[in-house]
Amino acid sequence: MAENQNYNDLLHKNSYVFYRYPLTLVRGIPLMEPIANQWDPIENFQARPDDLIISTYPKAGTTWMQEIVDLVLNKGDLEKAHRAPIYVRIPFLEICSPPPMPSGVDKLVNAPSPRVIKTHLPYQLVPKSFWENNCKMIYVARNAKDNLVSYYFFDQMNLTQPDPGTWEEYLTKFMEGKVAWGSWYDHVRRYWDEKDNHRILYVFYEDMKKDLAHEIHRVKDFLQVDLSEDIVQKIVHKATFEIMKENPMANYETVPSSLFDKSKSSFMRKGTVGDWKNYFTVAQREVFDAHYQQKMKGTSLHFQEE
Ligand code: A3P
Repeated sequence: MAENQNYNDLLHKNSYVFYRYPLTLVRGIPLMEPIANQWDPIENFQARPDDLIISTYPKAGTTWMQEIVDLVLNKGDLEKAHRAPIYVRIPFLEICSPPPMPSGVDKLVNAPSPRVIKTHLPYQLVPKSFWENNCKMIYVARNAKDNLVSYYFFDQMNLTQPDPGTWEEYLTKFMEGKVAWGSWYDHVRRYWDEKDNHRILYVFYEDMKKDLAHEIHRVKDFLQVDLSEDIVQKIVHKATFEIMKENPMANYETVPSSLFDKSKSSFMRKGTVGDWKNYFTVAQREVFDAHYQQKMKGTSLHFQEE
């Protein structure tokens, strides 16, 4: 708890200034500069066999899955789930800010087992040690268009990400994979291809929206946690968009405005499937869909976008 307090104190220090970091390529993947500068400790991170990784392309529903996993592991105990903000409960492996902020690796090295770890790294950049230790991973994927819209708004409010530019400009950058953590297409495809080679549970955001209880059952079975139906229903309720939006331990309201400018967009923005229709013109949709067909050719991976 003291560690959490220190972390939040540092985060709220007025003198602590964040800025929009440029992207730097790491093995061909654009990552925020502080991550690229600290790549060695990330690449050489030592996994433990009981680590659980939650991996996603940014804005695919990471926080939603983090909240669910934490509730499942704590058997629906709300007090435990309210012990700290989500980014403290489940550290972000590759995140690096200038000192004195601890990096994700710093926090995880000292964390007791079993650890739950968040990452956005594409498959090929995940530290080898996780695969060598046969760790479990939950991967969440979201349809490209909603993922893109969500990322566009997030890049406006997250003052450490490159400026998204106009909607039109951002659309092109996303299609070209020139955003932080690289190509959505490569990210979702590669994990899909690898899911049967490792202990990876592949979950779709759209399935969570359609039947959250069903997806929570998949998660608890994968984690081998025994829960009554009552507890599952309690977790469903706690993990709905409306409840999470009001939960300061899940909605990122504890992050200072020098980092997340909530006047631009809120973290828990809309939480829907099909919001892309409010932003894509007919012409943009046609271009995007044609490009999508090329990028996703030959895969058995399919998304619902309505
Ligand atoms: P929108 O911007 O479309 O609203 P991440 O955690 O990977 O950054 O993803 C954030 C996205 O997940 C946001 O999407 C956010 O609203 C959505 N989200 C978070 N919790 C959710 C929930 N309980 N139900 C539905 N969507 C949720």
